[in-house]
Amino acid sequence: MIKIDHAVKTFDDGKLSVHALRDVSLHVEKGDIYGIVGFSGAGKSTLIRLVNGLERPDTGSVVVAGKDLSALTKPELLRLRRKIGMVFQQFNLLEGKTVKHNIAIPLHLAGTPRAEIDRKVREVLHFVELDDKENAYVSQLSGGQKQRVGIARALATDPDILLCDEATSALDPQTTESILHLLRRVNQEMGVTILLITHQMQVIQMICNKVAVMENGQIVEEGSVLSVFGTPKEAVTRRFVRTVINDQIPETFISVVRSETRPQQVELLKFIGDSVREPLIANLCRMPGLEVNILGATIQEMQSSVMSVFILQLIGDPEKIAEAEQKIDAAGALRERMVL
Ligand SMILES: Nc1ncnc2c1ncn2[C@@H]1O[C@H](COP(=O)(O)OP(=O)(O)OP(=O)(O)O)[C@@H](O)[C@H]1O
Ligand SMILES: [Mg+2]
Repeated sequence: MIKIDHAVKTFDDGKLSVHALRDVSLHVEKGDIYGIVGFSGAGKSTLIRLVNGLERPDTGSVVVAGKDLSALTKPELLRLRRKIGMVFQQFNLLEGKTVKHNIAIPLHLAGTPRAEIDRKVREVLHFVELDDKENAYVSQLSGGQKQRVGIARALATDPDILLCDEATSALDPQTTESILHLLRRVNQEMGVTILLITHQMQVIQMICNKVAVMENGQIVEEGSVLSVFGTPKEAVTRRFVRTVINDQIPETFISVVRSETRPQQVELLKFIGDSVREPLIANLCRMPGLEVNILGATIQEMQSSVMSVFILQLIGDPEKIAEAEQKIDAAGALRERMVL
């Protein structure tokens, strides 16, 4: 659906050049809710702007819905853009105009007949559950309602793709959740492919199936949300994952671990979905010559699956610990030795 290959983008103001994108490749498939996460300045917005042709890469290619953007004429690009909805952090609505007026703008631009505009505005307003706000002024709405209008406007032209740049960053956690729920409905009920940018890992966790992590104009890690959350490799990814999955040993336990004089190993275990079917921890506890302490545990829900994380202190002879590690690996849990 979206295929970016080796995109390079440098901004040059004569004195300073900023390498916003350094050789970025991204492949979003139809039906994905693909999340891009990264700190400020990583190049996320620049990347998303390539997709609707607001920026052109210096080198590399951008193919959207089978069309190479660099080969399109202006009218062709405009036609393609109608199939790409855009949702912004600051909503980008005309505050002094009505909800209906705002949603109708892209339809007017597309030359849609008045009766069809009326019908479509009502349809998308119903979808975002704001049926009664058609004639309200945007300035009278809450942030969450404004974002619903922003989404309704993006949906008015029946897009195949929705691009969301920090769509929930200006909203409180509860409103964020309701907007994410709405985006999921857009994806599932309308079959719209979504590419979203965020600096909040919770957003990725709640609705995305795939994620790419950006740093310094590059994608440093990507994959299914479960695999990236389960086995984050890069330091920046670990930092992001840590904001939703606590894999740190509680401070109070560190001294306990350090004061242990017997041979020991601290292990971080992750169970994804039903990948581990046996009562692994109970089995470890029953191993003669091995003592098992649970130092931390958390369960996270993501995309209709769950990830459980345990931090175990295994105390026993080195051979016993090795045997326990084999048991853990054989059961299918992800395991990492922790060094304190
Ligand atoms: N039009 C522009 N002219 C000059 N520099 C730009 C332009 N657009 C982006 N940049 C620079 O490119 C880099 C990447 O910017 P970008 O907006 O893509 O980052 P971002 O990941 O979206 O950050 P944020 O999370 O703050 O929105 C930054 O250093 C930014 O200053
Ligand atoms: Mg940005």
